[in-house]
Amino acid sequence: MRRAIFPGSFDPITNGHLDIIARGSKLFDEIVIAVLNNPEKNPMFTVEERIDMLNKVLPAIETGNCVLTVEDFQGLLVEYAIKREIYAILRGIRAVSDYEYELQMALMNRRLEPRVETVFLMSGEAFSYISSRLVKQVFGLGGTIDGFVPSLVEAKMREKLGHTERMKYG
Ligand SMILES: Nc1ncnc2c1ncn2[C@@H]1O[C@H](COP(=O)(O)OP(=O)(O)OP(=O)(O)O)[C@@H](O)[C@H]1O
Ligand SMILES: [Mg+2]
Repeated sequence: MRRAIFPGSFDPITNGHLDIIARGSKLFDEIVIAVLNNPEKNPMFTVEERIDMLNKVLPAIETGNCVLTVEDFQGLLVEYAIKREIYAILRGIRAVSDYEYELQMALMNRRLEPRVETVFLMSGEAFSYISSRLVKQVFGLGGTIDGFVPSLVEAKMREKLGHTERMKYG
């Protein structure tokens, strides 16, 4: 059984993440999508909301026989992976800018736990500039995010923004 863990904030899930998951599903029998509980990143969505969105949009992607599992996690990733008997970390690379950070993380994780390898996949060009941060920023300024996130996610973002606007303006 070849299993990988795909860690991230997924705040929210984008079509870039989905592209990496679809590509990864050709290499692994199971991918555990591990949603990082990171309150210090001041997230737009709670971990529960992020997991709920993931569970709703994942069935739409073609993954063959690969099983997708969604979990939340905090703490040391390699420790979590070993506990779950997973020996591959899946990460996506967009541009050179991702590489430096990802290399550092991969080498640190290898140092901490030599049994775990990091596997990098490149997303399709159409997704290569999409990040959750940029999507939130563009959306917050009123720009269209059509094609960057699943429509369910866009609807949830609209709900969220409407809610904060109401809070802000009474
Ligand atoms: N468009 C994309 N193409 C390739 N990899 C991606 C893409 N978007 C995210 N990833 C990868 O998915 C993994 C999880 O990333 P993360 O949750 O930080 O998403 P993100 O879009 O980078 O969010 P943020 O903007 O908040 O950092 C990382 O390995 C990241 O490089
Ligand atoms: Mg990121």
